[in-house]
Amino acid sequence: MNRRYRKTIIAGNWKMNKTPAETRALIDELKPMVSKAKWCEVVLCVPFVDIPMAVRLLKDTRVAIGAQNLHQLDSGAYTGEVSGPMLKNAGVKYVVVGHSERRQYFGEDDALVSEKVQAALSAGLRPIVCVGETLSQRESGVTMELVAYQVKSALSGVPVARLREVVFAYEPIWAIGTGRTATAEQAGEVCNHIRTVIRKMHGARPARSVTIQYGGSMNAENAAELLAQLDVDGGLVGGASLKPKDFTAIVNASNQ
Ligand code: 13P
Repeated sequence: MNRRYRKTIIAGNWKMNKTPAETRALIDELKPMVSKAKWCEVVLCVPFVDIPMAVRLLKDTRVAIGAQNLHQLDSGAYTGEVSGPMLKNAGVKYVVVGHSERRQYFGEDDALVSEKVQAALSAGLRPIVCVGETLSQRESGVTMELVAYQVKSALSGVPVARLREVVFAYEPIWAIGTGRTATAEQAGEVCNHIRTVIRKMHGARPARSVTIQYGGSMNAENAAELLAQLDVDGGLVGGASLKPKDFTAIVNASNQ
């Protein structure tokens, strides 16, 4: 982390877990533990139906609410979809874009991710853009090229003045939900590479203002070491974000 230039952000990605009633119980437990963290921004990316409950329970706290997806258009005949303006109006501040599960199971490609990044920004939401490689891509040595391509594509329609609103999350697919975390060095190396790509596109000053998270089996034990890397500015936390004590430990680990 380097808090001088950019915000540390610890975000929980609840994925497809928790009903509104369960959301109430989880946030009631979490709220007293994380709502006073001043050294980082705490974000809960909850399922769409849980957004009203989460926004209501956390209003007047420092905890922000995120969504996990959005449609690339503002409105129209797209049954089952939710748009950026809808999320904004519901009190959402962040939205996860291009998560590997959406790329893998819902056919989202880099062109669509780019459209969604622009849709998020034009609605006044901060996109958390996920990038990362599969195990076979890592083993064949293409991680850096692949991640560079994903970053460049995601930023292709983003004016430099809005760059600091974009958050990146480096999530190696082989580390998601597997208990197999990237080493701190691996995470730091790719996060540094992401910043280098942004620097080459837009220059040093905008690049150093971008928050770059790590995600993939981050937990209470490994968070401090990952976050000690200079270019790892936070975490996008799946499984551990559903356990209040573990998530709180990760938030506290970012106070270093
Ligand atoms: P896990 O923390 O469960 O590995 O999930 C990471 C992730 O996909 C966050 O978006």
